[in-house]
Amino acid sequence: MSPERMAEIHAAAFADGEAWDRDAIASLMERPGTVAVSGGDHGFALLQIIPPEAELLTIAIAPAAQGQGHGHALMEMVLDAATARGCSVLHLEVAADNRAARALYAAAGLVETGRRQGYYRRPGGVRTDALTLTITLPARQTGTADET
Ligand SMILES: CC(C)(COP(=O)(O)OP(=O)(O)OC[C@H]1O[C@@H](n2cnc3c(N)ncnc32)[C@H](O)[C@@H]1OP(=O)(O)O)[C@@H](O)C(=O)NCCC(=O)NCCS
Repeated sequence: MSPERMAEIHAAAFADGEAWDRDAIASLMERPGTVAVSGGDHGFALLQIIPPEAELLTIAIAPAAQGQGHGHALMEMVLDAATARGCSVLHLEVAADNRAARALYAAAGLVETGRRQGYYRRPGGVRTDALTLTITLPARQTGTADET
């Protein structure tokens, strides 16, 4: 998937001020260790992979395609991509009030390993915690992700 399409999805999926633009995504993709995963035209994820650790930098499904299981499918591809590159653990950070993402990650088997109080500031000045979630990955196997 092109950085342009990723930026389009990101802008639609994230609230004002949180989306990454095309240039930010393109420069991230040029960094060694960045892996993009997509399962079609409706969503993508970016990972930073430095074996044995992987970090999920972002994941987004276009709003019109949300709630149909695409997030679950993409998350499976993310775990496969990290496992196939020899990672034994994947971390990510999520806002405590992001119900959809927390449901997605819980279903994928991630567990809370840390909490930063009041890390995110919402419109109106309301603060919400950042949670660090982690999953231990199985031993290396052949990946099935459609990676770009
Ligand atoms: C998080 C996100 C990727 C999930 O993608 P999706 O395709 O909607 O996910 P799925 O349809 O596979 O559903 C995943 C889970 O989220 C739940 N969910 C989906 N939309 C929801 C909503 N608006 N509110 C609460 N839960 C929701 C589903 O019920 C499902 O939970 P379940 O397994 O307990 O039934 C998507 O909502 C998104 O792009 N959000 C904006 C970007 C974002 O917040 N990214 C994560 C940053 S850490």
